[in-house]
Amino acid sequence: MSVVGLIAAGGSGERLGADGPKAFVVLAGRPMVEWSYDVLAGVCDSVVVAVPAGQEGDGPGYVAGGPCRSDSVRRALHAAPQATVAVVHDAARPLVTSELVRSCIEGLEGVDGAVAAAPVSDTVKETDGERMVTRTLDRASLWAVQTPQVFRADALRRALDVDDAVLAAATDDSSLVEASGGAVRLVEAPRENFKVTTALDLRLAEAILADRC
Ligand code: CTP
Ligand code: MG
Repeated sequence: MSVVGLIAAGGSGERLGADGPKAFVVLAGRPMVEWSYDVLAGVCDSVVVAVPAGQEGDGPGYVAGGPCRSDSVRRALHAAPQATVAVVHDAARPLVTSELVRSCIEGLEGVDGAVAAAPVSDTVKETDGERMVTRTLDRASLWAVQTPQVFRADALRRALDVDDAVLAAATDDSSLVEASGGAVRLVEAPRENFKVTTALDLRLAEAILADRC
C-alpha cells in the first residue's frame, strides 16, 4: 500500500484578497500550505503539492496546478503513479490534524472514499432564482463536507478521467467519485477544520493556531 497526500494549493485566493496566492499567505508565522504539508507528510508515504503554474520550482513533490481545483488534484495524482491510496487535502484547511487524516484512512476500509465532514448546525433552505424559499431541508441528514478526502487511488483516477467542464463544475472530489459509482463514507470531523476563504477566516485560524502552540 502506498499512501500519497495530494495537496490542492493552486488557487489564486480571490476572496481572501491578499497580494498573492492564498496557499502562500503567511499564517501564524509560515506559509499556509506548510501547516497541511507537515501533517500529511507525517502520516503519508509521500506528498505532492499542486501550486499555481510557474511557482512549482525545481524540487520534487511540487507540480503546476490546473485551471480548477479538481484539475489541480488530477495533475498531482498523475505525478504519483505508485499511489494506491490518495489523501486529497486543500491547503486552505491549515487546521487539519494527523488524527483526522488517520481516521479518514481507517474509514476507507470496504469503501472507495472516506471524507471528513461535520454535521450542519444551521437550518438550510433551498431557494428559486428570486431567492424565494422552495424547501427547508431536514438538517438531521445534512453534513458539511471538508478535506481530507481519502480515496482508493484507482477509484479517484477513474473519477477524474472526465471532461474539463465536468471537473470545473465539481466543488469536491468526492462528488466525482460518487458520480462514477463509488461508495463514499463520511468521517465525523471537528468544525475547527474550517476552510480559510475570507480575511475573517484567516484571523480565526491565526488565533486557533496560536492557541495550539
Ligand atoms: N485550488 C487549486 N487549484 C485551483 C483552484 C483552487 O489547487 N485551480 C485549491 C486552493 O489552493 C485551495 C483549495 O483548492 O487550497 C480550495 O479552493 P478555494 O478555497 O476556493 O481557494 P482559491 O480558489 O484559492 O480561492 P478563491 O476561490 O477565493 O479564489
Ligand atoms: Mg476557488
